[in-house]
Amino acid sequence: MSDSIDEIFRRAKESKPLFVNRDALSPDYVPMHLPFRDPQTRAVAQILAPILRGSKPSNLLLYGKTGTGKTAVTNYVLTKLKAEANNPNLVLAYVNTRLADGEYRTLADFARALDLTKAKQIPLTGLAIGEVVDRISDNIKTNKKKVVLVLDEIDYLVKLFGDDILYAFTRSGTKLSPGFLALVGISNDLKFKEGLDPRVLSSLSEEELVFPPYTVDELRQILTERAKVAFRPSVASSAAINLCAAMAGSEHGDARRAIDLLRIAGEVAEREGLKEIDDSCIRMASDKMEVDRVDEAIRSLPVQNKAILFAVSRFDGGTNTGELYLAYNNLCKKIGIETLTQRRLSGILGDLDLLGLVEASVVSKGRRGRTKKIQLLIGKDSLEKTLSEDPTFAALA
Ligand SMILES: Nc1ncnc2c1ncn2[C@@H]1O[C@H](COP(=O)(O)OP(=O)(O)OP(=O)(O)O)[C@@H](O)[C@H]1O
Ligand SMILES: [Mg+2]
Repeated sequence: MSDSIDEIFRRAKESKPLFVNRDALSPDYVPMHLPFRDPQTRAVAQILAPILRGSKPSNLLLYGKTGTGKTAVTNYVLTKLKAEANNPNLVLAYVNTRLADGEYRTLADFARALDLTKAKQIPLTGLAIGEVVDRISDNIKTNKKKVVLVLDEIDYLVKLFGDDILYAFTRSGTKLSPGFLALVGISNDLKFKEGLDPRVLSSLSEEELVFPPYTVDELRQILTERAKVAFRPSVASSAAINLCAAMAGSEHGDARRAIDLLRIAGEVAEREGLKEIDDSCIRMASDKMEVDRVDEAIRSLPVQNKAILFAVSRFDGGTNTGELYLAYNNLCKKIGIETLTQRRLSGILGDLDLLGLVEASVVSKGRRGRTKKIQLLIGKDSLEKTLSEDPTFAALA
């Protein structure tokens, strides 16, 4: 990393690019074939196929851990179905409720797929949710539309906004006739089921499909196919692919993580002017992903959690609850935020511990009772750098 600028430029000129198609390792790329997902692909196709003859498919719930191919399989089947469904009354809509970020936006995205926004029947803001649902329902009924609506990352919608929309749509049967609406929900968190009205749940999960995590060996084969498209030959050796698969697979069986690891390792190798990806590139890529994960976790913390994390970072060798509370108190005065009670502070410490940002373990002080030993688990410098992006903390760095 201490190369001179001349050296960096010389290498950039001399070295050949390692990637021939970087997109093949991008998060949105849908490969032509999804190995090890034939049973799921066929099942989704079979469940949705009745729409091609104008019959209502069963509602369907897909679940499985992150990176197990739920979105990829669904998009693959939708693309194939769209090619077959050459009737304007057949609508195959896809909305990611996390990206839509809200009930209204989810409905507006759906309305766009139904061509309702163009006709100005659904403005992008301003109507009550119930009114939007009614207009969508009227449109389906009047135009006899046969609709499949995929709600990807449906757990976000339910956790943040409840199940009102789902309730309206799963109970809407006769209101839509002769049109219909079949729902496909996708989630990597089964707990969202607890937030559903039992009637919504039983209707949504008429059919259920589980996506198991990939084994290390499956990830290895998935990576081999993707690498063939992405890199020039001999850039990603089988040893490199094995290491990526093992590092991503041993914990979660997550294809996204495996593919990200290979892409970032390729970028590292390219930057270093290497001809192929070696072990050190993969380890650097893995470290970078971990740093990015931690940065992202810090960025999305509420301000109080950030303040407590910052207070913990003031103690190099770790601290205890009493000392930390004093430091936190001073900090709150300095940056002008409300001071929480010591009890709330303890609760937030528990959350920070769960995220792997601090360690807060209870230690016995003998007859003097028990206290918490609190320690920062991440780099102090990078914490300060990430926190300084938040105006509340900018002055402290
Ligand atoms: N069988 C497979 N073959 C090739 N690539 C795959 C396969 N399964 C998943 N992928 C790739 O792995 C990445 C993650 O897959 P996908 O987005 O479908 O995961 P997901 O199950 O929807 O995860 P999440 O719950 O986090 O949304 C994507 O880039 C996808 O193309
Ligand atoms: Mg997904």
